[in-house]
Amino acid sequence: MEFWADKARRLPWFEAPKTILSDGPPGQQSWFPDGVMNTCYMAVDHHVNSGRGEQTAIIYDSPVSQTKARYSYQQLLEQVQATAGMLAELGVQKGDRVVLYMPMVPEAVFAMLACARLGAIHSVVFGGFAPRELAVRIDDAQPVVVLSASCGIEGSRVIGYKPLLDEALQLASHQPESVVILQREQCQAELQPGRDVDWSERVRMAKPADCVPVSGCDPLYILYTSGTTGKPKGVVRENGGHAVALHYSMQAIYDVDAGDVYWAASDVGWVVGHSYIVYAPLLRGCTSVLYEGKPVGTPDAGAFWRVIADYGVKAMFSAPTAFRAIKKEDPEGKLVQAYDLSCLQRVFSAGERLDPPTYEWMSEVLQRPVIDHWWQTETGWAIAANMTGVEELPCKAGSATVPVPGYHIEILDDEGKPLPAGTQGSIAIKLPLPPSCLNSLWKDDERFVQAYLSNFPGYYSSGDGGYLDKDGYLFVMGRLDDVINVAGHRLSTGEMEEVVGSHPAVAEAAVVAREDALKGHVPLGFVVLKSGVDVPEAQLQDELVALVRSQIGAIASFKEVHVCARLPKTRSGKTLRKTIKQIVNGQQYSVPSTIDDPASLAELAALLDSSLTPQ
Ligand code: COA
Ligand code: AMP
Repeated sequence: MEFWADKARRLPWFEAPKTILSDGPPGQQSWFPDGVMNTCYMAVDHHVNSGRGEQTAIIYDSPVSQTKARYSYQQLLEQVQATAGMLAELGVQKGDRVVLYMPMVPEAVFAMLACARLGAIHSVVFGGFAPRELAVRIDDAQPVVVLSASCGIEGSRVIGYKPLLDEALQLASHQPESVVILQREQCQAELQPGRDVDWSERVRMAKPADCVPVSGCDPLYILYTSGTTGKPKGVVRENGGHAVALHYSMQAIYDVDAGDVYWAASDVGWVVGHSYIVYAPLLRGCTSVLYEGKPVGTPDAGAFWRVIADYGVKAMFSAPTAFRAIKKEDPEGKLVQAYDLSCLQRVFSAGERLDPPTYEWMSEVLQRPVIDHWWQTETGWAIAANMTGVEELPCKAGSATVPVPGYHIEILDDEGKPLPAGTQGSIAIKLPLPPSCLNSLWKDDERFVQAYLSNFPGYYSSGDGGYLDKDGYLFVMGRLDDVINVAGHRLSTGEMEEVVGSHPAVAEAAVVAREDALKGHVPLGFVVLKSGVDVPEAQLQDELVALVRSQIGAIASFKEVHVCARLPKTRSGKTLRKTIKQIVNGQQYSVPSTIDDPASLAELAALLDSSLTPQ
């Protein structure tokens, strides 16, 4: 407790917290509940007040729109005050929700901070999600205002966001009072009179708004993440614990401090973007890079190295899939040599396990420490990492190094008994969780307890499997549930099954993760048709692929589906997804003793031309 009390003292509270961790059931407590604060004040105003006003806070680099811009802390403050003023004039008050459906533009950052300034709760929805996904989130969060832009830019393609948003609002039962649209020059959106307002015009007219004091346990944001069903989980992040943990992490994990340039190449729609593009670097007084582009193709595989060299980035952070994409195009790392990377101290990776070949390649071409660290939307910061600002340990390929202070990790068997070093099991975290971690789901305490706390009493169940080695290094080997990571995007195979199963020709469906050299995993589907259905297989496949794309989004990368006579099942009727996954990934499998009809496995393997036979 004293550890976190000490870390909290380093932040500018309006009234310092007296209670460090609230009472309450383990796992459902709040950190710093009686502290009075404002996250935007801590991340912006405070730096201006203490003499950092002229320092660059945000560097915007957008090869896709040919734009570069810098905002000092003073300029950031003015933008955020005005954006908060606009939201206040549209009726947003403390505790209200605001949904953002935005591309990677500075206005997205201003808006998140503006919500924090008013004590309103933002919920950012990743721009790659389809209208139905956006609608589900709008219905759950019930926002007063939705903020969006006319378009996003994917490589050389302009993707109109407004038609997607309009469709989402038609699907949603809840309607916001206002929709604010940022018109980008690449595409002008049509505004619906009475509901839609023009962002730039309204901000220009807005009266600057001041910070609204909130308590440490008031929510800062809701971020929806994929669970095992079609309904996403609304992870709630509280202001106090979040600010303290993120501020600490910048120095302790990434070894950066005020004045340093830090770059997380992610998207504000994901937790990495929330924590390490927006909040943590600003809380610490760093300069944060906001990059609207891809690792390859905008214009080439040297894009990351160009940004690092141009802005003097000291620590950068991205997902393994991004580095694999670069490796594929520039296997010898020739483009690395084209830039002066002397500023760069370390490269960090998360989103999925940094596979040893990619780790070796990065270490070789970059010639500096490459650090894998493991975390989740639920925690908001790393659970296991190399604490480079405290004591840098030697890295081991395939390991996220050691538990971060505050996380007591144990590997448990199915009965919840701790397993010895070197043995794989469920990765669980002993309660209480450290600051920043969720203590509920938005308006759904019951689902929170059931999903995270009920599997192993006294522990948070991470959903990941892995082991601790004899030196205490953690190896996270993958999800134990229906969650799949596709190119660093977290999705639910269960949800894809629901969508595929909604096709009129489909009786039942199974979707499993197949290993992919670029994206880590991609989904692969199997369907059984309703009896009497006669539809050409190629046509059905196209329709199912299009269905997932329209219902979940292109980011699902759902491109392959097979029709089969039946799915392998247990005698009690449960689909044997684990065994299907083993077959799909060419792994040896054994026929489960509970199987209803062993021949169904061989049929499935034959569909995939698999030469594997059961052990
Ligand atoms: N808005 C609209 N569409 C989007 C989108 C967005 N914000 N993001 C992705 N998409 C679309 C893509 O255009 C693509 O569409 P397509 O099937 O029509 O080509 C589809 O979703 C799949 O996108 P993606 O998975 O990103 O694949 P890609 O082939 O375009 O790019 C990588 C591959 C590896 C370069 C890319 O996935 C990448 O940069 N990944 C890093 C992810 C990351 O930073 N994750 C954050 C965790 S730290
Ligand atoms: P998200 O909530 O989108 O950040 O996804 C969290 C999930 O991504 C985790 O539960 C893991 O399955 C996976 N993940 C993230 N980082 C790592 C890592 N460094 N090593 C292994 N898996 C990771």
